[in-house]
Amino acid sequence: MAITFNKENLLLFKSRLETYESKESAVLPTLALAQKQFGYLSDEVIKYVAQLLEMPEARVLEVVSFYSMFRTKPTAKIEIAFCSNLTCQMKGMEALKHYARERAREIARMRGEGLVEVIEVACLGSCDQGPAIMVNRERQVGGVTKEALEQIFAQLPG
Ligand code: FES
Repeated sequence: MAITFNKENLLLFKSRLETYESKESAVLPTLALAQKQFGYLSDEVIKYVAQLLEMPEARVLEVVSFYSMFRTKPTAKIEIAFCSNLTCQMKGMEALKHYARERAREIARMRGEGLVEVIEVACLGSCDQGPAIMVNRERQVGGVTKEALEQIFAQLPG
């Protein structure tokens, strides 16, 4: 089946495109929209975005590989990215990350693999709200606690 935006996203794409001077300038929001719809940016999705924006695929791939927020492979249902920088470390990030990894293993044992993934990233730019995490490369959460992590795990589909 051919990769295409659904009707709603196609309208969104077109309306956003009107706000940019060139099609190429809209590559970041278009990739973000594509990732939201398709889950990750496969070769087919990258080709589709390149066609939409009339850009060489290699140029789109360069953008995708530059930004860590873009995924090129399917990932877990919930990905939690922990900031690994000093300020968050000083606010107890290491213990929270350890807790999240333990819970991820427990969830995998109980319900199967591929549901929760815990990764580390560089500073998320919310140092004053640390410890900070990014959930599914979309939603940033500051002042993280074990309870906040449990609320995230609770969002896993039953
Ligand atoms: S040090 Fe963690 S968000 Fe900046």
